[in-house]
Amino acid sequence: MDTSNRTVFLPGATSGIGLALARHLRAAGSTVVVGGRRADLLETLAAEGFATVAIDVTDPASVENARDTVLREHPDLDTVVTMSGVMLVEDLRDPAHFAAAQLSVETNLLGTIRLIDAFIPHLLARGSGTIVTVTSGIGFLPFPLMPTYAATKAGVHAYSEALRAQLAGTGVEVTELVPPAVATSPEVRRSNPAALDLEEFVTEVMGLLGADPTPHEILVEGVRMHRWAERDGTYDELVARRSQALVTLPGR
Ligand SMILES: NC(=O)c1ccc[n+]([C@@H]2O[C@H](COP(=O)([O-])OP(=O)(O)OC[C@H]3O[C@@H](n4cnc5c(N)ncnc54)[C@H](OP(=O)(O)O)[C@@H]3O)[C@@H](O)[C@H]2O)c1
Repeated sequence: MDTSNRTVFLPGATSGIGLALARHLRAAGSTVVVGGRRADLLETLAAEGFATVAIDVTDPASVENARDTVLREHPDLDTVVTMSGVMLVEDLRDPAHFAAAQLSVETNLLGTIRLIDAFIPHLLARGSGTIVTVTSGIGFLPFPLMPTYAATKAGVHAYSEALRAQLAGTGVEVTELVPPAVATSPEVRRSNPAALDLEEFVTEVMGLLGADPTPHEILVEGVRMHRWAERDGTYDELVARRSQALVTLPGR
């Protein structure tokens, strides 16, 4: 896709990967509407020159209000990126983990579906556009500290495949961004020295996103060993390696 002339709604861009991607898309020439819940960050981003909209993807009314605002102010919207997500650690031996599981499904899986549903009529009416879903290397190679997170991302992968098939021939394309661990903060960098540098990651993403035709999956070099572990015969070994992180759970 041509990243220099898009009108993009990017909920989940008040921080992290979404914010870096918003800045890169804007620098490339696209118009970006940033969404999220944190009003203070939306205000700062508005001062930076972004259009902004408040949205909570777990709340159907909030998603519809945000959709209406975005389309009223940007009727030429052609791209939606479902970036909003939470990454939660769970101890499955403690039933109290269910709250985290519920929030993960509500945000990462149902939030993604709600957002897509909200914008599909507009995109179909245009007859062109792009939906960028966001999964994770963890959706393909589980990280046992984050069980429901992995399940939601595997779910969004499967959903993206079905969505692409259902939208075939409509002019609306579906591409899935599959990030590996990315150092979105100094804390992430400290806890995972292997996490990719955020700027390097987003620069690589922009290059891949700009290909024509748009790839079905945006796979930076650093995620391919996870994306293809099952095919490559490294799956069991890599899951065992990742399982070592379980010792960090309290009481293990
Ligand atoms: N960083 C990584 O290593 C990594 C790896 C693979 C995949 N990912 C995925 O990349 C995406 C961005 O993650 P990140 O690491 O950049 O984390 P982040 O900095 O915590 O960003 C998460 C974004 O999601 C938004 N969000 C969370 N709950 C929301 C809700 N209910 N409604 C609307 N927005 C909500 C947050 O905004 P507000 O709090 O303002 O609402 C924030 O903008 C996520 O989908 C994550 O699963 C990240």
